[in-house]
Amino acid sequence: MRTLELLRKSAPTISAGILTADWMALGSELSLLEQTDVHLAHVDVMDGCFVPMLTVGPPVIKALKTPLLKDIHLMVEDPLEKVESYVAAGADILTVHVESCNHIHRVLQKLGSLENQNDPHRGLVRGVALNPGTPITALKPLLDQIELVLLLGVNPGWGGQSLIPATFSRMQDMKEMITHSKRDILLGVDGGVTRDNISRLGSAGADLVVAGSAIFDGKTPTQNARTLLDRLRSPRL
Ligand code: DX5
Ligand code: ZN
Repeated sequence: MRTLELLRKSAPTISAGILTADWMALGSELSLLEQTDVHLAHVDVMDGCFVPMLTVGPPVIKALKTPLLKDIHLMVEDPLEKVESYVAAGADILTVHVESCNHIHRVLQKLGSLENQNDPHRGLVRGVALNPGTPITALKPLLDQIELVLLLGVNPGWGGQSLIPATFSRMQDMKEMITHSKRDILLGVDGGVTRDNISRLGSAGADLVVAGSAIFDGKTPTQNARTLLDRLRSPRL
């Protein structure tokens, strides 16, 4: 099945952010999720320029042996010449920031010409991420080149921050823009997700929710993932 179809069918769903996982035991941390309905691993790629922190690049992503789909969030400057290596490393979803270069449309066009290297039939889901300070209208000219909008609920660069409250109204506005466009585009939210706000994010229209520290808290990732998924799927009263 194509990844986009799979995501649409399982929406709302969770992508597990590995930033706060135990990186020395990443394989076994991810395998804990295989006993849950979480089927996506969200990898935050930071280059020390677009955001201050440095994380991992294509070799580590490629080395990550997991049946989970690889959801790669690129927080890097000038991704045009870099995206191909992340696709080659096994990205199923590849998200670039609208703020990361002058030619974001061209980056998305390039992604549109690349095949999913895990299985060409799955298709590559192209995402665009938006920082909390960027007006959502910046996405309007890009809607015919994307399958996912990822709204950042925090300023990117670190895990474990608090969700910026304006995220809820931005999600609603974005949902309207997507509906109006009549395109099959998923709405995602990343950063600041907790077990206390996840139902509300579901009610605000999230199809995909990235949860990092709320899953990998050093204690009970499997149980955390199950609780978050249950809450995401129960509408807020
Ligand atoms: C922010 C990252 C997020 C973050 C999520 O720069 O893109 O993916 O690590 O972590 P939590 O869920 O802890 O905010
Ligand atoms: Zn992320």
